[in-house]
Amino acid sequence: MKIQKAPLEFDLDVLPVGMSKEAIEDHYNVLYKGYVRKYNEIQEKLEQADQAGANATYSEYRELKQEEIFTANAIRLHEAYFAGLGGDGNCHGIALDWIDRDFGSFENWVGDLRGSAMSARGWVVLAYDLADGLLHNYATDIHSEAVWTSIPLMVLDVYEHAYYLDFTTDRKRYIESWLQNCDWDYAADTIRRFDLEKVRRAA
Ligand SMILES: [Fe+2]
Repeated sequence: MKIQKAPLEFDLDVLPVGMSKEAIEDHYNVLYKGYVRKYNEIQEKLEQADQAGANATYSEYRELKQEEIFTANAIRLHEAYFAGLGGDGNCHGIALDWIDRDFGSFENWVGDLRGSAMSARGWVVLAYDLADGLLHNYATDIHSEAVWTSIPLMVLDVYEHAYYLDFTTDRKRYIESWLQNCDWDYAADTIRRFDLEKVRRAA
């Protein structure tokens, strides 16, 4: 089975407050598209790789399967990150209802988000976890870390490449900018796309 992934397009003209076009375009064109290219290259190589010689200490197959996860998650996380930018930060509707229910209030969620974003080395993912039927802010250090049963609703990239051009080392200011630019319609769309209201009622 040959798998190939095409990069998604995003409206990069809807600039988040405090973020420059140069930084966003660099992030999209160099980082994101680079992950897509490497993911496709890995899929090509898996077609020919030596399955019989696979070995968990070192083998071509192991390296390809490791980087398949790394690039697949990098692609998905960046797509959710770009899609979730460009709003006014006003959390409303079903996303707000779910946050109120699971975090107690939006302010509580923001507090945990800030703490998670300062703790993580890579990502913070507001996710609906199918295993317990609750929202979580999952903080990860690397693309290949994941809670497998979770569906990302909003994603914050806290790698330095996401903010260094505009905020140098001031990650706190970048987090506040991200909060002001969240497009919460993206979270609501994801809830609808996966029919998560029905899933949650059944949890
Ligand atoms: Fe990134």
